[in-house]
Order: sequence, then C-alpha cells, then structure tokens
Amino acid sequence: MSPPAAVLCGLAGRVPSRVVTNEHLARRLDTDDAWIRARTGIRQRHVVEPGQATSDLAVEAGRAALASAGTDTADAVVVATTTPDRSCPATAPAVAARLGLDGVAAFDVGAVCTGFVYGLASAAGLIAAGVAERVLLIGADTYSTIVDPLDRANAIIFGDGAGAVVLRAGHPDEPGAVGHFDLGSDGTHEDLITVAAGGSRQRSLPGEPSRADRHFAMRGKEVYRHAVTRMAESARTALDRAGWKTDDVDHFVPHQANLRILHSVADDLGLPRERCVTHVESVGNTGAASIPLALAAQAFRPGARVLLTAFGGGLTWGSCLLTWPSSLSSPSSLSSPSSLSSPSSLSSPSSLSSPSALSRQERTTP
Ligand code: UT7
Repeated sequence: MSPPAAVLCGLAGRVPSRVVTNEHLARRLDTDDAWIRARTGIRQRHVVEPGQATSDLAVEAGRAALASAGTDTADAVVVATTTPDRSCPATAPAVAARLGLDGVAAFDVGAVCTGFVYGLASAAGLIAAGVAERVLLIGADTYSTIVDPLDRANAIIFGDGAGAVVLRAGHPDEPGAVGHFDLGSDGTHEDLITVAAGGSRQRSLPGEPSRADRHFAMRGKEVYRHAVTRMAESARTALDRAGWKTDDVDHFVPHQANLRILHSVADDLGLPRERCVTHVESVGNTGAASIPLALAAQAFRPGARVLLTAFGGGLTWGSCLLTWPSSLSSPSSLSSPSSLSSPSSLSSPSSLSSPSALSRQERTTP
C-alpha cells in the first residue's frame, strides 16, 4: 500500500495592520514611489508594531487556518521562518502551545524565503511516515525586525506577515493533494543573503558586532540573477517529475520577491503572465509567508493545477505541485491579508528585537 499523501484542507493569511507605503518610505529615505514600483512592483508593505513578534502573526494565521479546515487540532506544528522570536528555542513549540496544541511535535524550518516549500515537504514527510495525520504549517516572518530602516535597498522590499496551511492524510489522486517536489541548495553563495551577527561564528569572536552585521544584508543584483535561473530550473524539474507540461499549469504561485523576477520566471517557463499569481504589490516580500499569503488571497477552481516555486538565502530553492482542493472556504472567509489585531499575550517589548524606527506618520494606516 502506498503511503498517505498530504492533502491541503485549510488556509489563511494574516498581516499586521500598520501599512507603510512607498510615500512613507520616501519621507525618510533617498527613494521614490516611481523607482520602487518600476524596480519591484511594490506599492506598500505591512509592518509589525513595537513588541509584536513573528509568533504573534503565526498564531493568528495558524488559528484561522485551523478554523478554515473546520478543526482546532493538529498532530504537528511546523513554522518556517528566518525571524524566530529568539535564536533559541524554536518558535513552533510556543505557537503550538498558544494554539492549545500541547504535547504535539513542533519545530522550525530555516530555509529563508524557500522555507514554506521546504516546510511543505517536511509536512508531507511527517504524513507519509505516519508520524502525523494532520499538520499545521505556518510561514511567518517579520523582516522589519532585521532590516536596517535606513537601508534603502532592502527597506523598500520587505514586509511582515504569516500564512498557514493545514495538511491532512489523504489520497494522492484527490483534489488538494500535494504532489511532486524539487528542493535544492548552493551554500557556496551563503554570503549573498546574510545576517552576520547573532550566530556562533560572530559570537565566538571577541567584541560587539557592528550595526551592519546586526542587520539583514543582501547583494540584490546577484541574488536577482540566481533567483530567475534557479526558480525556472526548479519549476521545470518538479513539472518533469510529475509528468506535467508547462501548459498543464493553471496557476503559478512563485515566492513574491519582486514583480520583475516573477514575470521573468514565468516568461522563461513559457507561462502566460496572467497565470502567474502576484501579491507582492500590496504586501512586499514577506519571506516564508509569501506563498501562503498569496494562496490565501485566491479562489482557484477545485482541481486546478498549481505550481509553487520559491528561492531564498542559503542559497535555497524549491518547487511543489498540487491540485486545488474542493472543500476550502471561500477567500473572504480565508482572511485574505487583512488586519491583525494586537494579540493580548504580547511579550514585553524589552525582550524583543528593536523594531524599525518608523515615524509617527508611518504608524497610521492611510
Ligand atoms: O526573497 C529572497 C530573494 N530576494 C530577491 O529575489 C531580491 C532580488 N533583488 C532585487 O529585487 C533587486 O536587486 C533590488 C530591488 C533589491 C534592487 O534593484 P536593482 O535594479 O538590482 O538595483 P541596484 O541594486 O542595481 O541599484 C541600481 C541603482 C543604484 O544606483 P547607482 O549605483 O546605479 O547610481 C542604487 O544605489 O539604484 C540605486 N538604488 C535606489 N534608488 C532609489 C538602490 N535602492 C534604491 C532605492 N531608491 N530604494
């Protein structure tokens, strides 16, 4: 008997309520709306309030995804993130506890912006191995806590958010089944996307880290080139493994890095751009949250064939194919990125990373 497949049965996305538009950024950085739109396609991004952490977004998205699956339980919680609440322990156990899922398996996946696709493979593995019957997978990131607010190249791109899916044990042929994967990495380019400080390398050295080392750094142009090539290759590999042709893909949902990257990958694959789902305009690049946030804003027809492809620091990349389930709630009840109310159980701000130094004006949703 073949092992059970992972079947998508719940989905939700959450973003914080504070919106930072391009105009807001142009007031404190040497940039402008026209440049940002032309180079990235981004109009605005959502940013957490001081004291809000990744787990706060993850809990909200996770709870909503469980509700959309018509349940309040799961046997395992996987959180894909590059911005855990602390460097130790992992964020997933605390998320599980706050969701009332005491005692379940819970761990983080660290594959930067590819984390959600790696997390899908991990969840599918847990289900295939019989370790779990239902897995809650959350992609959640708060890049505003690691990007230097004065770094115009990165401050314009990233936003905060969380997207969650519930996967249950099922049959590979039923709508919602998560199918073939391609996962890869190239650590020889680890220096293209980094936060240098905070890990064992920096901590084993004497002295305090510099401001630059404490913040996120990306060699954007090089990353851009790798992203286009690797995403297209990975998508082709996954399609080959499944025996799908490009034309079989109804919806291409890539990691929302930059609109130009998404369109270049779609063009390279020979996919009409209208089949490429874009969400980056209104939320920016939300890291591991970007694919589930983009999915939560869609209403695909049951059985539609969907290709997910991601790329991120590491370097890492990955693709996954799935068919759209018949029983998912409509997007309106899936909480397509809307507002996130401040959770009542926030940790004290002093125990969290210093939030971006945004002006009062930026704290107001236009
Ligand atoms: O999610 C993980 C994967 N990440 C990605 O896939 C991101 C990949 N990279 C990118 O999306 C793009 O490289 C960026 C959006 C980060 C930058 O766009 P770019 O077209 O590659 O710009 P650039 O870094 O080559 O900079 C071009 C010019 C430079 O000026 P000079 O040297 O030509 O005079 C920059 O200083 O644009 C300048 N620049 C800006 N100008 C106005 C850089 N950032 C800005 C800005 N506003 N915000």
